[in-house]
This record gives sequence, C-alpha cells and structure tokens, in this order.
Amino acid sequence: MDHNKLALPVGTTLDRFIMRKQEDFPYATGELSQLLRDIALAAKIVNREINRSGLIDIAGAYGSQNVQGEDQQKLDVIANIRFIRALRNGGEVCTIISEEDDEMIQTGNNQGKYVVAIDPLDGSSNIDVNVSIGTIFSIYRRVSPTGREGTAADCLQPGTHQVAAGYVIYGSSTMLVYTTGNGVNGFTYEHSLGEFFLSHPDIITPKTGSIYSINEGSSDSFSPGVAAFVQHCKDQQFSARYIGSLVADFHRNLLKGGIYVYPATAKNKSGKLRLMYECNPLAFIVEQAGGKSSNGTRRTMEIEPKIPHERCPFFIGSKELVEKAESFIAKDTEACDHKPAPEPTPKKAVAAK
Ligand code: AHG
Ligand code: MN
Ligand code: MN
Repeated sequence: MDHNKLALPVGTTLDRFIMRKQEDFPYATGELSQLLRDIALAAKIVNREINRSGLIDIAGAYGSQNVQGEDQQKLDVIANIRFIRALRNGGEVCTIISEEDDEMIQTGNNQGKYVVAIDPLDGSSNIDVNVSIGTIFSIYRRVSPTGREGTAADCLQPGTHQVAAGYVIYGSSTMLVYTTGNGVNGFTYEHSLGEFFLSHPDIITPKTGSIYSINEGSSDSFSPGVAAFVQHCKDQQFSARYIGSLVADFHRNLLKGGIYVYPATAKNKSGKLRLMYECNPLAFIVEQAGGKSSNGTRRTMEIEPKIPHERCPFFIGSKELVEKAESFIAKDTEACDHKPAPEPTPKKAVAAK
C-alpha cells in the first residue's frame, strides 16, 4: 500500500505562496506581502460574517445611503469596517478609497507606502438571497513622499500603475484571486483549517467564449453599437448569464470564457461601475490572464481618473469578444460621424412691417 495515497498533501497556503513570490524580488521589503496578508485576513472575517448572516441580525438594509445614493446593506458597512481596520492595523497603507466612504480615508500610517482602492462588498443586493458576492481591491504605490498623509494624486493613478489587484468571491466556495503583475493565481478557502490554498495556479482566460453577461433590462437605452453587439451574441447562440454580482459574473467568465458588459444607459449615463475599485482591478487581472478590458473605445487601465468614485462603461473578458464589442461600437461611431448634418430648421419669416 502506498502510504502517500492515504494522506494527500494539503497544498500551498496563500501565506507560503506570497512569501515565495517575494523571494523572486531580491529587494522586496515584504510590505506588499504583508498588505496582501492583511487583506486575506479581513476576507476570512468577512467570509465568517456572510456565512452566518441569516442567523444573526446582519442581513438587510442599514438604513443609509452611500455617496453614490445607493442603499447600504448592513454587510456593506461591516465589510467596510473590517477591511479598513485590517489595513489600518497592518500599517503598510497610508490612504484608502472605499465605495462606502465619500472621502479618502487617512489611516494615520503616514509612513505607509501604499494606497488601496476597495469595494468591500460587491453585489450587495444579492446578500439576502444567498447569491455569490465579493470584495474587489486595487493596490498602488504612493507617489507623494512618505511621512505625511496620502494625497489625491496618490489615489487617482491610472490602472496601469497598479502593483497588485484582486478579488474575493464568497460563493459556493470562497476564493481569493490576485495578481501582482506576474500572472493570476486563485486560492480556495478551507474552512476547517482557516487557510486559503492554491487551487487555480496561473489562470489563463480562454481567447474567446460563448457567454455574454449584461443587464438586458436596460436594453432600450443601449447605444446602437452595444445593441448590435448583443444581437451578435444572440445570433451566435451564446448563453446569457447575469447574476448581478460583478465579481461572480466576472469570475465565471474568466474561467469559462465570455464577456461582461455594463454600458452607458439612460439611468447610468457613464455606466454604473466604478473605475478605481471595480473596473481597474478586474482589468489588471483579466489582462494578466490574457483577456481584455475596455470602456468600449479605450483600454480601461489607461483612463486617467479624475475623482475617486468615477464611473465608466465596462467591457471585460475574453480578448476576441471585447474586440468584437469594440468593433461594433466603432462602426456605430463611424456611422454617426458620416451622418449628414441635420438640415437647419427654417427660420420663421418675419412679417414685413
Ligand atoms: P455594489 O454592490 O458594490 O454596489 O455593486 C453592484 C454592481 C455590480 O456588482 C453588479 O454587476 C451591478 O451592480 C449590477 O447592476 P444592475 O442591477 O444595474 O444590473
Ligand atoms: Mn460593486
Ligand atoms: Mn459594494
């Protein structure tokens, strides 16, 4: 009997993986590694809160709105507190942008070299109905000197400057997926051991796919380019899959191949999703996995952010599908450019006196 078969190895823990990766950079100080571990710890705590939300009184609305006029759920508030506390205690982060806070949050760690943008709980309308939800985060190195509070310039950097980004999906299993710009790796949480284990090494997203994810309830206000792309997906007999939690929709498409779209609509003229803590982190991940992310005409990560809670249209997923969407949008724009200018409305003749 092969004794090894009786006790399969448990695999690589997230902590060990982060440490190993750090050894690849001889001058790394370990601060980014510590920061990633802080996020993982907060994720474990939030995971625990989510799992028992039906049992104690933390489901449902909190009774207030965030800066974007969205109803906050109790778990939005709890997750926000947990992540901010973990980042504050960790000491590596000087400033945080959070979906749930109007202003930049100064942690008091003025020596911290990093800034973090975070959506503490994504898909919060799905909390009460036991559908997967998530956390999305993005990490930048500050550009201002240490020793004082972080500035707007530290927080408003384009996505191309991210040093790490990731998400946690609280789903049928809980996973943490992240990149530091050297590929994408996914870790699954083992509840009984309280550890994340490497389960999805070197994630590569399929070049193309047959899933499209868009809220078609708003289709009346899609631009002709977006409408034509959606029709193209139907003509190709793609499957429509949209659960309303960006993290869950993105994660499925990352693994299976597909495209997620949140375009400009009548209700959300610049799209709904926020550049700093929803679009850019996922854009970094998808590019590292071989996919693509765009606002329809431009690479997401090259957009220069102007305000912390800026929104942008979002097309993300398999490279070929995002390019296809962009080509439909370009055709539409071209068509608009070549439309003859409307006839000037004839002025009313002024009656001769
Ligand atoms: P959040 O819960 O962080 O505010 O994000 C909600 C987002 C995103 O998760 C999801 O894809 C999208 O809102 C769904 O919006 P619609 O209900 O308009 O489709
Ligand atoms: Mn969100
Ligand atoms: Mn959120």
